[in-house]
Amino acid sequence: MSESPALLAVFGNPIAHSLSPLIHQFFAQQEGRSIIYEKRLVEGAFADCVREFFAQGGVGCNVTVPCKVEAFNFATAKTERARVAQAVNTLSVRHDADGSLSYKGDNTDGFGLLTDLIRLKCPLASARVLIIGAGGATRGIVPSLQFLGSIHNLTIVNRTLAKAEEIVAYIQDFYAANHFSRMLMPMRACDYATLEAQKVTPDTYFDVIINATSLSMREELPPVKDEYYKRARFAYDLFYTPQGKTVFTEHAKSLGIANSYDGLGMLVGQAALAYEQWFGVRPEMEPTIEYMRQVLAQR
Ligand code: ATR
Repeated sequence: MSESPALLAVFGNPIAHSLSPLIHQFFAQQEGRSIIYEKRLVEGAFADCVREFFAQGGVGCNVTVPCKVEAFNFATAKTERARVAQAVNTLSVRHDADGSLSYKGDNTDGFGLLTDLIRLKCPLASARVLIIGAGGATRGIVPSLQFLGSIHNLTIVNRTLAKAEEIVAYIQDFYAANHFSRMLMPMRACDYATLEAQKVTPDTYFDVIINATSLSMREELPPVKDEYYKRARFAYDLFYTPQGKTVFTEHAKSLGIANSYDGLGMLVGQAALAYEQWFGVRPEMEPTIEYMRQVLAQR
């Protein structure tokens, strides 16, 4: 382990609210590693900010809204999960033999969710999965469900149908171009009216319901009828609160889904995978989630 602290940062705009420094400091503390983790506000060109950071000795950084696409363009090498997401949330520097620097871009958002779903023993094998919402978050998580390879089928429902259709078409095209498309999980896009009109039968129910809309932030529920919740076994909201309860998780519980969880574990999961990129060690999730709940409760 090196003597001098490793320099890390998160880039975005706004950035003051970011929990990443606290999460990574906690990881480092667990491992007995010394780090400096800064928040860097991106006001000008992202590439200039990040180049300056690496010139100062930065070993890696996280990237958040609105810079993930710029980070994708900045990276000189990309993981497959970054390529499919077309967005980068983690950069690592490589010192090449000729003395130049190169930058590996990864996207740990989707696998952060997957890590958390596995931790929570989500019944994903042969699952019929419903994702509600088709924004940036959904685009990030669909490839990780595809990677899992055991999903029975995936439905994406969204207020704006075209956005859900666009994600399905994009994933289909990406895998057709890069893999055997026969490995692709069956996917469909629909709007709320279609789900509402559909009878809930052994062919049309969902095992797992994931809320990827921004509605919980406003204490609103997505317009998905109760019968779907009554048949499901697991519910997950990407939004999180100090207590682990959102309007969505409480609604799901009231309809019989005891296994209803908020998304704090996904936030910690994506951070854990970023930390692993930089230091080759995967931090433990549970104590970090517990710590972050305490931090959030005090805010
Ligand atoms: P992004 O992640 O791309 O920034 P967002 O504006 O945060 O997107 O919205 C995330 C998701 O919440 C989207 O699926 C959005 O639906 P639309 O694509 O139709 O905008 C969904 N959402 C936000 N407000 C909503 C509402 N009042 N009713 C239903 N869905 C809503």
